Amino acid sequence: MNPALSQIGQQMSQLTGVRAIMKDIIETLRLNRGQDLINLSAGNPLIVPEVEQLWRDCTHELMASPEFGQVVCRYGTSQGYEPLIAAVVDDFNRRYGLNLTERNVLVTPGSQAIYFFATNAFGGLSANGELKKVVLPLSPEYTGYGGVSLSPNTVVAYRPRLEIFEADHTFKYRPDFQQLHIDETTGCVIFSRPCNPTGNVLTDVEVRQIADLAVPYGVPVLIDAAYGPPYPSLNFTELAPVFGGNIVHCLSLSKAGLPGERVGIAIGDREILSVLEAFQTNACIHASRYGQAIAALAIANGALAEVSVNVIRPFYQRKFTVLEETLRTALPNDIPWFLHRGEGAIFAWLWLRDLPMTDWELYQHLKRAGVIVVPGSSFFPGLTEPWRHKQECLRISLTASDEEIALGMQRLAATITQVYQESPSRPYSDVLA
Ligand SMILES: Cc1ncc(COP(=O)(O)O)c(C=O)c1O
Repeated sequence: MNPALSQIGQQMSQLTGVRAIMKDIIETLRLNRGQDLINLSAGNPLIVPEVEQLWRDCTHELMASPEFGQVVCRYGTSQGYEPLIAAVVDDFNRRYGLNLTERNVLVTPGSQAIYFFATNAFGGLSANGELKKVVLPLSPEYTGYGGVSLSPNTVVAYRPRLEIFEADHTFKYRPDFQQLHIDETTGCVIFSRPCNPTGNVLTDVEVRQIADLAVPYGVPVLIDAAYGPPYPSLNFTELAPVFGGNIVHCLSLSKAGLPGERVGIAIGDREILSVLEAFQTNACIHASRYGQAIAALAIANGALAEVSVNVIRPFYQRKFTVLEETLRTALPNDIPWFLHRGEGAIFAWLWLRDLPMTDWELYQHLKRAGVIVVPGSSFFPGLTEPWRHKQECLRISLTASDEEIALGMQRLAATITQVYQESPSRPYSDVLA
């Protein structure tokens, strides 16, 4: 059956960004079952035994408590499960010297829902028919922002400045404040910190500068801390969360071992949150309470913050080191390869300057060499201008064993070396042809 779709139906049934290529990856893995294929494409976190044990312990505690029936046999409020909200308020006030009250917290079914609600509550067609944009100040960005708007052409992204450390084979993206426009046509601003896919961490100064640009227009700024402290603390560099005013700090417990339970937490201005809460009531009533209840226990007793810093962070940081060291040994110095500074998250981002083919073609070569990564062009939602750089990058996931990452990087280095040797640089128009 092929039911007719509304405009929104059409917009929402498109597969955006990385989801579009996941189909190809799943098919490749299916056809090559039993073959020696290293999959470094996944964004799904690994099961870390200590983290699994923490959630198992919290589940036992919940099941043994008289609260269990209240949690799973009853509806709750749209704002979230009260003990979780109280635990977050206490923890953040103590940790960061804030004065949050329970009205400053909203729990959603995963943090993706926060971006969906905000994008459509603040972005899209306004009452007077003007299109309010959702601004991504720095591109590349999380592909999930590409699909969140119910109206087309709402998400716009800005090209970054590149800080290149030639001798070191590393680089870092910086927001380009000369280009960035936040004004009365802006509905809201969103960025991830640490960033998926690049591992970039915007500095406190850059964050304040972006937030300040939005203040005169009353525009909310959502800081996506899916990888940030205090949970899951997947920052490998100093990172002080920024709060207050128009900033909505958005947490996810997915990389802290609970992706299946869908727990997202927005912290910010009560008026902004009450708009998102009403949206949530209409969309899904509230997030699952079981996930919220075990999260409340693990936050209140400090175990989640502790396991984040002492287990989750070193677990992935070591994998980044394995990846970087293998690339440094295996890639020749005279190839213009640049690894984004590994400041956090669970990915590495590799830029191959003047790559003599597109990232898609390279992805096909790499599959034949036995390693799957994600072509970088999937990670520029909202950036429509042509820019060769978009076809010169790869996202490499750290969600594999150290051995797989090392072997995968050896295969990747061999393929890249061969590609540069066999095809000297082609003009950009040819690369895209
Ligand atoms: C940067 C970023 N934001 C948000 C999400 C969505 O997370 P959640 O599971 O909380 O919806 C992800 C998931 O990978 C992500 O990488």
